[in-house]
Amino acid sequence: MPRLTSDARHKVSFTLNGHAVTAEAEPRLLLTDFLRHVVGVTGTHVGCEHGVCGACTIQIDGQPARACLTLAVSIEGADVRTVEALAPRDAEPGRLSVLQEAFRRHHALQCGFCTAGILMSLDAFLRDNRDPSEAEVREYLSGHLCRCTGYVPIVAATLDAARELRDGGFNV
Ligand code: FES
Ligand code: FES
Repeated sequence: MPRLTSDARHKVSFTLNGHAVTAEAEPRLLLTDFLRHVVGVTGTHVGCEHGVCGACTIQIDGQPARACLTLAVSIEGADVRTVEALAPRDAEPGRLSVLQEAFRRHHALQCGFCTAGILMSLDAFLRDNRDPSEAEVREYLSGHLCRCTGYVPIVAATLDAARELRDGGFNV
């Protein structure tokens, strides 16, 4: 009887945080598992695994995307950014992006499980929205679940980061 799914591995070539990467993936492998277990980049977290919590959010070709709803083989040729990309690569070790630094100042994380996904969403949001209202930030955050913070410090950090970016800061 023929198999309904193939275990054959496919080469996937893409850009990850500015570096060319080629690795092998089975057709059914999720991008979360591919990034964490095959490529070895573990900043992307895995929560619900069905698109609800937002913990796995990364950027694909500049747009936030749920890595748990994306097949690894579908990112062939794509430009993928994970939370590891946020701190400026050419800066001194430990230096954070404007957004990350605002999260630190406002205590916008506790356990941190949701944080990588929230940062990757907000990084894209602030790129296109330098002067968002609190309501817009809250609306945008509605795609993310955080069980620790109550969201208040996350909103404050986002508005603070937007202010700093308007004043000439840089996000990556
Ligand atoms: S792990 Fe992807 S949305 Fe929850
Ligand atoms: S900081 Fe714990 S879930 Fe958001």
